Amino acid sequence: AAEQRQKQHTLNDVLEKACKAYQKHLKASPRAISYFKGRGLSGTVAKQFGLGYAPEGWRSLASVFPNYDDPLLVESGLVILNEEDGGEAKRYDRFRDRVMFPIRNIKGECIGFGGRVLGDDKPKYLNSPETPVFSKGRELYGLFEARAALREHGYALVTEGYMDVVALAQLGFPNAVATLGTACTPEHVHKLFRFTESVVFSFDGDSAGRRAARKALDAALPLATDVRSVKFLFLPPEHDPDSFIRAHGKEAFARYVSEAVPLSRFLLDAARDGCDLHTAEGRSHLSSNAKPLWELLPAGALKQQLLSEIADLVQLSSRELTEVWYPTQAKPK
Ligand code: UTP
Ligand code: MN
Ligand code: MN
Ligand code: MN
Ligand code: MN
Repeated sequence: AAEQRQKQHTLNDVLEKACKAYQKHLKASPRAISYFKGRGLSGTVAKQFGLGYAPEGWRSLASVFPNYDDPLLVESGLVILNEEDGGEAKRYDRFRDRVMFPIRNIKGECIGFGGRVLGDDKPKYLNSPETPVFSKGRELYGLFEARAALREHGYALVTEGYMDVVALAQLGFPNAVATLGTACTPEHVHKLFRFTESVVFSFDGDSAGRRAARKALDAALPLATDVRSVKFLFLPPEHDPDSFIRAHGKEAFARYVSEAVPLSRFLLDAARDGCDLHTAEGRSHLSSNAKPLWELLPAGALKQQLLSEIADLVQLSSRELTEVWYPTQAKPK
């Protein structure tokens, strides 16, 4: 265990050193600076999030890590080791010619990076791989930077992207975080609820964003206790939080926040999706769609309320619905 901690400590040192180097490279790169400026970022917010730039070239990190063959560089995810059969192992920087978003844990230590191309190349974003200090399913981008604002604002905005977090912070919503190119997990939600009692999911308005919201519903349901609030904000299809707030301003985004849909409504909408409630088939389909979602809720008043709302929708009493879902005994023929 002590060995493990020592390893994590040295990995953090490596990542921190790279983070500083990327920040220095940003200052020296007019292209990267104008990329960020072109996206409306202020120098202040760039500094606050420690944004940087990974230069072109296969081994730029060699200037800060004289021992480029150190296995720690590979383990940190900064260097890729390509072992060709027969030939010699080749090492090179993972992040090249990308603007860099350092990802911090809740202690403020750099644990990984997201890097974006400056143009239209693919992949648009490259993230650090899973390492002993970095797990995408557990970490949230911006949580460290947002931690005080979460208490002040009383809620967290959960977005999909790095740019969403940074743009929202700059334009009046410093209480935003992002999942790291993966679906929102129960661990993400659990972590957030350590800092706030209220979470508003604010994904992209496109179909991928809607799918992400549906997954976030599954992740949030088991943690939706009666004292917590979970809501979903749906932007117009052509927008994500970054593009929306830049196009329409802070007040317009605040209106979307205030009109966010509560979890209970989103659950009912999800269960109802594609069901024609004018037919017995549609209503029974809804009841079977709703069951697995409802079961994820922790016992409590909200769960009881939803039982009666689902029952109303399918034109049964709560008791009848419970009997449909959980038959108590085999009926006589
Ligand atoms: P988006 O494509 O919506 O990114 O993906 P974005 O932040 O809006 O991008 P730009 O910069 O404004 O064009 C949302 C998130 O999904 C992850 C990243 O974390 C991104 O912020 N992603 C996306 C990847 O990991 N890889 C990709 O190639 C694309
Ligand atoms: Mn998207
Ligand atoms: Mn975007
Ligand atoms: Mn987006
Ligand atoms: Mn618009």
